[in-house]
Amino acid sequence: MRISVIGCGYLGAVHAACMAKLGHDVVGIDVDERKVLELSSGRAPFFEPGLEALLKEVQATGRLTFTTEMSSARGNAVHFICVGTPQKKGENGADLTYVNSSIDELLPYLSPRDLVVGKSTVPVGTAARLSQLVIDAQPAADLLWNPEFLREGHAVSDTLHPDRLVYGVSSGSEDDRAVDVLDEVYAGLLGTGTPRLVTDLPTAELVKTAANSFLATKISFINAMAELCDAAGADVTLLADAIGMDDRIGRKFLNAGIGFGGGCLPKDIRAFMARAGELGADQALTFLREVDAINMRRRSRVVEIARELCGGSLMGQRITVLGAAFKPESDDVRDSPALSVAAQLQLQGATVTVTDPEALANAARRFPELHYERSAEKALQRADAILLLTEWQEYRNLDPYETAALVSTPRILDGRNILDSSKWRAAGWTYRGLGRP
Ligand code: UDX
Repeated sequence: MRISVIGCGYLGAVHAACMAKLGHDVVGIDVDERKVLELSSGRAPFFEPGLEALLKEVQATGRLTFTTEMSSARGNAVHFICVGTPQKKGENGADLTYVNSSIDELLPYLSPRDLVVGKSTVPVGTAARLSQLVIDAQPAADLLWNPEFLREGHAVSDTLHPDRLVYGVSSGSEDDRAVDVLDEVYAGLLGTGTPRLVTDLPTAELVKTAANSFLATKISFINAMAELCDAAGADVTLLADAIGMDDRIGRKFLNAGIGFGGGCLPKDIRAFMARAGELGADQALTFLREVDAINMRRRSRVVEIARELCGGSLMGQRITVLGAAFKPESDDVRDSPALSVAAQLQLQGATVTVTDPEALANAARRFPELHYERSAEKALQRADAILLLTEWQEYRNLDPYETAALVSTPRILDGRNILDSSKWRAAGWTYRGLGRP
């Protein structure tokens, strides 16, 4: 099939490459010329494991091109909307500028029977509005909402092997032509048994925000337990293991630490609250305010523990922060808890050096006032304290004895509770976890 993918960021670039991998003829369209140039030459404009290899593989087949020209969408049967919906400045709601402009620009190029497929995370009600715009412009065309659940760092495999596919159609019925068209697009995934659910438009939009809200709630739940464990002298890691053995609860997303960040969970729960308010259902989501508050409190708690670790004052302390990305296997620093902590430490008088295997360029653009060092070994030299804030494998593998030889004082705050505390203590370190005695 001939497919357009509009928006080539973390979602769209991966989606475009994966659609070509499934055998389709794909054009990725983005307003950012630099991004288009990089993608066109087979380079991923951001770090995502497996993406660059996949780009090269599918580009060699001639089935994947990139352009800034929306007119290239003309003649394609399916148009995926993959643009970002960031948080509005100073407000909780989602900024739909990019969704609106991409639809506006696409409308003149729609042909009868085209299918527009929304993948961006949008406030419930958006799809119905956009569907009307599509039908007004081209009565025989249609719009379907197909939320995306991929995780950064696993985006390629999540796209090629999703847990489920959700199709929101205006009729809410399986017997919709739009369902058949998208089934043809995803034939390769459906053929391997991927479950597919057909819903109405608002349900499909809500599936995405509900899923992210649930995940955020799970993380904040365990972080609230970490606060209690701290107060009671208990161990949140063992607590998570024990409650996670109950199948109904499950161990995933119960890792207490410095909290969640990234381009999705924080802004999605806020946009969800804002939208519930508009719908007169704000009470239903007041708990998300608490989820957000618990999450933000983690960052101040880490700063507090860092101060304790440094003997009561951060002034003049040389602190090394391991990790800048919001999670490992990504160079994304949007709402990164690690960077937010690093910036607060610096504000409070510490001299902070941040290291990260992939995210330093993005981090430096966002927080130019911090010091950055690519080599972890150099970053660790003469540190008065280390804060492990993003759990990259190379930090998990650090040897406590070798690391002790680099630093000035062996003190470590394990912001992701991933190190073996007894091993580090045995090597002479003052070790602090979060919610661990
Ligand atoms: C999330 C959703 O998982 C995904 O389905 C959706 O499509 C987009 O949003 P992503 O933002 O890539 O994906 O990251 P995710 O793996 O969900 O992690 C989010 C944040 O939670 C990270 O900062 C991570 O460090 C943190 N986290 C995760 C925890 O603090 N504890 C955990 O147990 C799990």
